[in-house]
Amino acid sequence: MDERKRVLSLIQPSGVPTIGNYLGAFKNWRAMQENYDCLFGAADLHAITVRTEPKTLRENTRSIFALLLAVGIDPEKSVVFVQSRVPEHAQLAWLLNCCTQFGEAARMTQFKDKSATHADNINVGLFAYPTLMAADILLYQADYVPVGQDQKQHLELTRTIAERFNFSYGETFTVPEPFIGKSGARIMSLQEPSKKMSKSDLNTKAFISMLDEPSVITKKIKSAVTDSEAKVRFAPGKDGVNNLMDIYSCCTGKDYEAIEREFDGHGYGDFKNAVAEALVSELGPVQGEYKRLISDKAYIDSRAAEGSRTAELFARRTLAKAMRKMGFYDPDGR
Ligand code: TRP
Repeated sequence: MDERKRVLSLIQPSGVPTIGNYLGAFKNWRAMQENYDCLFGAADLHAITVRTEPKTLRENTRSIFALLLAVGIDPEKSVVFVQSRVPEHAQLAWLLNCCTQFGEAARMTQFKDKSATHADNINVGLFAYPTLMAADILLYQADYVPVGQDQKQHLELTRTIAERFNFSYGETFTVPEPFIGKSGARIMSLQEPSKKMSKSDLNTKAFISMLDEPSVITKKIKSAVTDSEAKVRFAPGKDGVNNLMDIYSCCTGKDYEAIEREFDGHGYGDFKNAVAEALVSELGPVQGEYKRLISDKAYIDSRAAEGSRTAELFARRTLAKAMRKMGFYDPDGR
């Protein structure tokens, strides 16, 4: 039997993810478990590139771990882990820092953006963020990495670093490819639909968090920006309606044509009610499961510890290989 391809992706534990994370990432991750060997985790080392209260970091990390399980990432099928519990990430990141040019890291648009928005804390970690991300991926010899548009450049740099390392020291790392999910939808802001939906938006009406109450979801959908055409159709220039159609499509599996037919002759009011309803019933089971899991601290802690131990078994092997290839002295002579 041929080996299954390996998939890896992490999410930063920095607040409650939005329906954009759910529809654009988690739903795909859940489906991928059936066809790939998957590793999913909480990128808590990445989260500290922005100043975070210790208590918040700890709670957010446990919470995102519980949320991964709540969306249906099954720890019996996939390795679900916490990045900081696997010290090999920071170790390999250092080796990769030394294989990455200053200019390459300085070109990353996320670094440039974050330096602008966090001008009071442009730390070296923010700069080295992409090499840590490369370490996350290369440690597990991942074939595919499901990422959003905003992380494509980091993945491209990861490929460059992997190829360079392999060229300099001999075949060591699998060169990963981006994975574009079936529902590649990018969910946009409900208030400024030309911008990606973001949980850090100052206007809370612009995003729906995965744990928003049904009444809040409904209110936010109802106040979403549309246009004056009053016709449910997917077309250029109709960013607000297009976005609602994407949300509806992701929740129901219906394509644009079917949605247009369904709402032919109806105004935006009816359409928004349907979108809100579909979203509430999509999120309901996840929210229920999350509530159950987050109150079972012992279960979450033991799953996180176990998943991280399993991840480390993989990671340790790759780090040892990379260190051997680079020429580190091993007095144990392995
Ligand atoms: N940088 C990613 C983000 O913010 C999170 C991340 C960290 C990641 N390490 C990764 C994603 C490795 C994919 C693979 O979305």
